[in-house]
Amino acid sequence: MHLAALNIPDLLLALWRGTIACDHHLGDDKSNWDWAVLRNDTVWKRHGEQVAAATPYLLGSFDRPPRNPAEKLTSGYKAMEFLNYIYGLGPGLLYGVLPMPYWKSFCKLVRGIRIVHQKSIRAEELTEADRLLLEFCVEFELLYYQRNPARIHFVRQSIHALAHLGSETTRIGPYAGVTQWTMENTIGNLSREIRQPSNPLSRSKTVEH
Ligand SMILES: *[C@@H]1O[C@H](CO)[C@@H](O)[C@H](O)[C@H]1NC(C)=O
Ligand SMILES: *[C@@H]1O[C@H](CO)[C@@H](O)[C@H](O)[C@H]1NC(C)=O
Repeated sequence: MHLAALNIPDLLLALWRGTIACDHHLGDDKSNWDWAVLRNDTVWKRHGEQVAAATPYLLGSFDRPPRNPAEKLTSGYKAMEFLNYIYGLGPGLLYGVLPMPYWKSFCKLVRGIRIVHQKSIRAEELTEADRLLLEFCVEFELLYYQRNPARIHFVRQSIHALAHLGSETTRIGPYAGVTQWTMENTIGNLSREIRQPSNPLSRSKTVEH
């Protein structure tokens, strides 16, 4: 949950918005960051509006629709919003916005993450997810980091962790079932069951992800 829904979106958005630290001492310069397409305020605001405008088209089964990230990213943006934003709407809304090599690589990440989130996963799908996530890791090195010492801080552990999702699925089960979602759901269930004795008829509060 934290890997796919928080750590990876945090890194990708910092890169695309050009907000990640730029090591000028080692010669890096943001003008060389051709992936930082959301650095432009007009483009970022338009992108944010498109995310919010997609809400009426998301079924209730998608849980929480993502709010406008250009306005709400720092207002308690939920893990579920990040999932729906990055892995749901991302490929469509970033098509023609991210340069094609970055977009293609991003789509591999999306496909891989979508597969490992399934409740049941066929063996051939898992093989595909494993391959796509590994390709994304290598392409991340080639496209963003470019094996440049000034950009070592781009390669967070979250990138490496993606390389384990496929193989760990055969060992411990589908990703969505072994991450924090199930625990948080149980905590929500227990707090609904317990209720405050001083107010036994109060409406139960749904725990938010
Ligand atoms: C930002 O993007 C808009 C819309 O594409 C464009 O008109 C404008 O020139 C860009 N601004 C900069 C500083 O690149
Ligand atoms: C909690 O989970 C149990 C087992 O799934 C279910 O029977 C029960 O209705 C749930 N309680 C609440 C308040 O959600």
